[in-house]
Amino acid sequence: MRHDHDAGGGHTSSRRTFIRASSMGMTAAALAAAGAASAAAHPTTAVQQARAQGRPLAVTPACDGHETPAATEGPLFKPESPERGNVVTPGISGVRLDLSGVVYDTACAPVTGALIEFWQCDQNGDYDTSGFALRGHQYTDNRGAFRLQTIIPRDYWGRWGNRAPHIHTQVQAPGGPVLITQLYFPDGTQAYGRNFAALNAQDRLRNSACTITLSAPQDGRYTGAFDFVIKTTV
Ligand SMILES: [Fe+2]
Repeated sequence: MRHDHDAGGGHTSSRRTFIRASSMGMTAAALAAAGAASAAAHPTTAVQQARAQGRPLAVTPACDGHETPAATEGPLFKPESPERGNVVTPGISGVRLDLSGVVYDTACAPVTGALIEFWQCDQNGDYDTSGFALRGHQYTDNRGAFRLQTIIPRDYWGRWGNRAPHIHTQVQAPGGPVLITQLYFPDGTQAYGRNFAALNAQDRLRNSACTITLSAPQDGRYTGAFDFVIKTTV
């Protein structure tokens, strides 16, 4: 069913007992290198073209100590999501995305055991409000790394107008404050026949500093990278 997404709400983020999960993930830097190699062969997006031409990238820079910008949580977060890195459940048929990254503190040291919650809509722009499709939480490994296997969400209409495709997330170091934000996609992203540049441009909630770095799609699947920088003390 379609909802009036992101309609605000006063949810108080739950805290969990922190445990160490043995997830893995390529670092954003490693992904950027891999993306550069593939982009050189088939540059299609602005990011890929920049890489192919050796120009600097304006997305997902190395940690500079600045906290990742926060964004509204919206009303569709559900607590007690399953602990898992793969949130693609039966019935989900969107464009696959393998997202990796590192959680850093404001001194740019990797944060081990950081809790990350992800939730998003599906290929039709709908959130699963009865179950946990495209919802999950995980903990960074001893390198601060995480990996999320998901799909690229579709745009949808909500309280704030047409929302560009985005992934909701919460990130929290053990004992630290909760960062709530949303991740976006580059203008050249190709999914569902949608014009991501136009969708991004008209979304007044979008923060371009929260744009995922995407590599060139391989067999219709995208690989992405995003590093978080969070405060570790309240
Ligand atoms: Fe949303």
